[in-house]
Amino acid sequence: MSEPKSKNITWHNGLVGRDERENKNTNKGVILWYTGLSGCGKSTIANEVEKKLFNRGLHTYVLDGDNIRFGLNSNLGFSPEDRTENIRRIGEVAKLFVDAGVIVSTAFISPYRQDRDRVRSIVEDRDMIEIFVKCDLEICEQRDPKMLYKKARAGEIKEFTGISAPYEEPGEPELIVDSGKHSAEECANRVLDYLKMKGYFD
Ligand code: ADX
Repeated sequence: MSEPKSKNITWHNGLVGRDERENKNTNKGVILWYTGLSGCGKSTIANEVEKKLFNRGLHTYVLDGDNIRFGLNSNLGFSPEDRTENIRRIGEVAKLFVDAGVIVSTAFISPYRQDRDRVRSIVEDRDMIEIFVKCDLEICEQRDPKMLYKKARAGEIKEFTGISAPYEEPGEPELIVDSGKHSAEECANRVLDYLKMKGYFD
């Protein structure tokens, strides 16, 4: 954790603990950290997973790349520094959700391994599940749901991940879902099976 700028501040514990919240919610708090290229299906899968968890009565929320950039991170662009700050803030917000006993999904490209590892370092091991949404660039580009690859190829978008900016694949993610070969529904079911198997809910 980096040193806060403020001095003379004191950490204050609340009267309701994480355990109590988790017991009431009937699920553990955890971050499902999706990472992968633009258009690989992170948001679609995260939303499918959320729907299935919600329908089971569990507590869940999705923090989505594009949406967060409209509000909390509206002052950030796509330079390496801004992406790092984007992921740092999302990591901190996700950590709060975990403390609230929520299964929180984050759907951000999060292209830098170091940024993802930094999030890992601020939570307990069990509190973050990194999910690599694997999909070849060619397939993402073919799908091009937001027509952004086309613009990037034409030079209209600078520093576009996979085209003119890097994407660093995870070394040891807890889960890999292959969205080039499998449907979003199938990928979502894999995530659910994993959560259940590891005891994040009954
Ligand atoms: S991250 O790299 O900082 O993690 P984030 O997930 O928040 O990125 O935002 C990615 C989304 O922003 C993409 O899915 C796409 O819709 C849009 N976008 C706009 N410009 C770029 C760019 N230069 N590189 C990648 N994505 C971009």
